Amino acid sequence: MLCLSSSRASNMLMLVILMSCLVSSSYGSFEDVEITWGNGRGKILNGGQLLTLSLDNYSGSGFQSKNEYLFGRIDMQLKLVPGNSAGTVTTYYLSSQGATHDEIDFEFLGNVSGQPYTVHTNVFAQGKGNREQQFHLWFDPTTSFHTYSILWNPQRIIFLVDNIPIRVFNNNEAIGVPFPTNQPMRVYSSLWNADDWATQGGRVKTDWTHAPFTASYKKFQYQCLRTLFWIILVWFSIYQINIR
Ligand SMILES: *[C@@H]1O[C@H](CO)[C@@H](O)[C@H](O)[C@H]1NC(C)=O
Ligand SMILES: *[C@@H]1O[C@H](CO)[C@@H](O)[C@H](O)[C@H]1NC(C)=O
Repeated sequence: MLCLSSSRASNMLMLVILMSCLVSSSYGSFEDVEITWGNGRGKILNGGQLLTLSLDNYSGSGFQSKNEYLFGRIDMQLKLVPGNSAGTVTTYYLSSQGATHDEIDFEFLGNVSGQPYTVHTNVFAQGKGNREQQFHLWFDPTTSFHTYSILWNPQRIIFLVDNIPIRVFNNNEAIGVPFPTNQPMRVYSSLWNADDWATQGGRVKTDWTHAPFTASYKKFQYQCLRTLFWIILVWFSIYQINIR
């Protein structure tokens, strides 16, 4: 439940939620993201409809959203590195800043040709992670685009693949489990080399003769939580009336 106290901190929190809703204009394009590293290995193409990241033996690449979000639903379509992708890791996650940051992760660990990718999920709250769960997909994620979504509300976090929930992380703050509730997060993504651990426990190394490796992205969408938006708007109007 929302805490309806009128302290300055919760006012700020609610303002951030309202702002999250108001900036939720990124419907399907990459106008609201910026390539942050990789020296030209990340590209926004087709007037913002497509984004590609690549990795070679010199560097990987990555991007992040310009906006920060507090609660909501993020959707992204990804087509992962095809063929022998062993050693490569494609990440797609939400994160806040600082030592006690919150983070909600999707990581795609490449594999040798014909072997399944591992989808690694994790949730950090107040800087603490160790809540990994791993999955193998029921399709080949390298031949076409599939939608990977994070739904984050005050009660729970749901990881979805093509709209099918694969993991639910409930808010168990009541029994002392930290949960991300008040730090706005950006969307981040990267493609990098992690052949010291990623594939079959680090036994299979990246085969650079297949470089550059490329992952593609489409239809980045952010939707705020409409119900929360209206509750807060009403709460603000009542509060404004009360203090006058
Ligand atoms: C990177 O790969 C290119 C092309 O295969 C090769 O010519 C170059 O020597 C490699 N560089 C390093 C640092 O391994
Ligand atoms: C790669 O394939 C092997 C064999 O099927 C599997 O055990 C492993 O989980 C897969 N993923 C990674 C990242 O090693």
